[in-house]
Amino acid sequence: MAPQPPNAAHPDAASPTAASPTAMSAGPAGPGPAGPSPTSPGSEGQGAAGQEAAAPAIDTGWFRQVLGNFPTGVAVVTGLDKGGAPVGLAVGSFTSASLDPPLVAFFPDRRSSSWPRIAATGRFCVNILGYDQESVCRTFAVRGGDKFAELPWRPAPSGAPILDGAVAWIDCDLEAVHPAGDHDLVLGLVRVLDVGRSALPLVFFQGGYGRFSPLSLAAWEGDLAVQLRTADLARPQMEELAARLGAECVASAAVGDEMVLVANAVSGSSPSGELPTRVGQRIPFLPPLGTAFVAWAGELARRAWLDRAGRDCPPGTARALETTLAEVRAAGYAVGRGAGWHGELNTVLAKADPTDPADPGHDAVRRLIRALPPGYESPSAAPTPTSGDGQASLEEGRGARGGREDELRTVSAPVFGRDGTVVLVLTLIGVHGPLGATAAGGEDPVAALRAAAATVTTALGGHHPG
Ligand SMILES: Cc1cc2nc3c(=O)[nH]c(=O)nc-3n(C[C@H](O)[C@H](O)[C@H](O)COP(=O)(O)O)c2cc1C
Repeated sequence: MAPQPPNAAHPDAASPTAASPTAMSAGPAGPGPAGPSPTSPGSEGQGAAGQEAAAPAIDTGWFRQVLGNFPTGVAVVTGLDKGGAPVGLAVGSFTSASLDPPLVAFFPDRRSSSWPRIAATGRFCVNILGYDQESVCRTFAVRGGDKFAELPWRPAPSGAPILDGAVAWIDCDLEAVHPAGDHDLVLGLVRVLDVGRSALPLVFFQGGYGRFSPLSLAAWEGDLAVQLRTADLARPQMEELAARLGAECVASAAVGDEMVLVANAVSGSSPSGELPTRVGQRIPFLPPLGTAFVAWAGELARRAWLDRAGRDCPPGTARALETTLAEVRAAGYAVGRGAGWHGELNTVLAKADPTDPADPGHDAVRRLIRALPPGYESPSAAPTPTSGDGQASLEEGRGARGGREDELRTVSAPVFGRDGTVVLVLTLIGVHGPLGATAAGGEDPVAALRAAAATVTTALGGHHPG
């Protein structure tokens, strides 16, 4: 990260109460007042020449509201007190300060009960929290108490706690403390640092938590580089397949908790009449969707995906999702069906940005996905496609209801990388049931798609994990 000047403008840095959990939730979220507040710039008596000497009487609420427009990351500064007990506090004021020497900075409130105990030892560790660690942040935004009771951690070289799940940690010696109003400016000399798990960071903005959402694929090049290169390699196969089967063939990658469309190939004679799927489109990576990414994954990744079904999902759902994963693995591909559902999803996606929590489409997409049965992508719910007569139907399938909602719409097959993990998923869209009908000359689209995915896997030097 490029060094930046210390961010004295963090809302908390000037408002000691801003970051208390109560003040946070009732805090300055949302738009400001229609006009400037009595103490805002431009209001009477402020900023006039000759008044510079007086301490500016800025209303603290207004200060917080204006500065709340600046988003910050969220970190937990940890250490051991003199008795060896772990101590920590949540901060939004963490920043890098200098490359040479390597310095970082943050602003602890002078009323912090934890910081003096950490400072007394002269060492601390900064833990950058992941997007899913809001509850960890809340734990450390509480004054005093044993904040580590429920949280697994391991010691950094300094002995200070590295919290499980932190996306990065920076272990420091206390370099300097400068007074900064009701806060202190703390400089830490970086001794050791490392990335933790690969996840998006937690972001704090206008009194609420969120996460980074890129504006373009390029902004994610670091995360998507392999997938984009693979998609390029897959393109000839995809184009050939789309043309041969008269369907659309797309490649998607799983990034964080989203599936991102990274390439598409459309047949000029696509019978569907539908708009091609947008490259860059993101769909939440939520059960029961995304089975082709998860079916061959290790235990941890499978668990993370299942966890996303939510704590309140019925007990049988997790088992049914496991069954679907086993069926996808056994068959070698996943399906998607339901003309109505696909139509609804496309309508929501066309209008909304489902990655922006403030957008109404954000919740609408998640609701649509959660309403799907756990076996939605299971190929076992669909009869083995036959070529020729086009009589394949899903009516006998598990959870099949017959009619358009069971009509096959997509078939997905994984492309494996060198380490046997799924790098991309190739999907044929517009595979309207009956299956055989989409294939010119009675070709089986499932077999054709799987063959294309296998060819790309080979070209990549990848292998099927078995
Ligand atoms: C998002 C967020 C950012 C915060 N940033 C800071 C900060 O930069 N400096 C600070 O002293 N407190 C900050 N706090 C508040 C402290 O975490 C809070 O006052 C906590 O109770 C301090 O704990 P302690 O008294 O055990 O030290 C922040 C809280 C939140 C939720």
